[in-house]
Amino acid sequence: MDNQKKCLFEKFGGDQQVSELIDQFYYKVLFDKLLRDKFLKADMSRVRYQQKRFFAQMMGDTNTQYTGRDLIEVHKNLNITNQQFDKFKTHLKNIALDMEIPNVDLEELLQHVEKHRDLIVFQK
Ligand code: HEM
Repeated sequence: MDNQKKCLFEKFGGDQQVSELIDQFYYKVLFDKLLRDKFLKADMSRVRYQQKRFFAQMMGDTNTQYTGRDLIEVHKNLNITNQQFDKFKTHLKNIALDMEIPNVDLEELLQHVEKHRDLIVFQK
């Protein structure tokens, strides 16, 4: 298939690669002093599972539907700051760089994530 016609999910390598991306991502997040405390009460296998589905759908995989909770409901009491949201994106970026994802695709992913800032950051 012509590369231009592939969706972001396919460009990242499909299910297997997106799943690995999310696993690597939470591995980093849970070691990050700025972020890890937010996840103390979270069921991480559930979070990883739902986040994989959320990302697959966000990245254009028409076979996947996110079935998790509403993002505002999930995050509104976590007092997440803009700085924490930025760090979340930095981890994603670093992993995508390790995966040798082309820059334009990486930027597209970060833009998709950025669109959700107002649903996640409540401590303005
Ligand atoms: C600094 C940034 C973020 C922090 C600290 C954070 C924190 C959390 C925590 C603690 C949970 C588990 C909540 C619970 O089980 O009660 C969670 C779940 C989740 N988050 Fe985030 N989050 C962040 C950013 C994002 C972003 C940017 C997205 C999507 C674009 C996202 C999507 C999700 C999803 C899909 C779940 C799973 C919901 C479910 O279990 O039904 N989060 N997050």
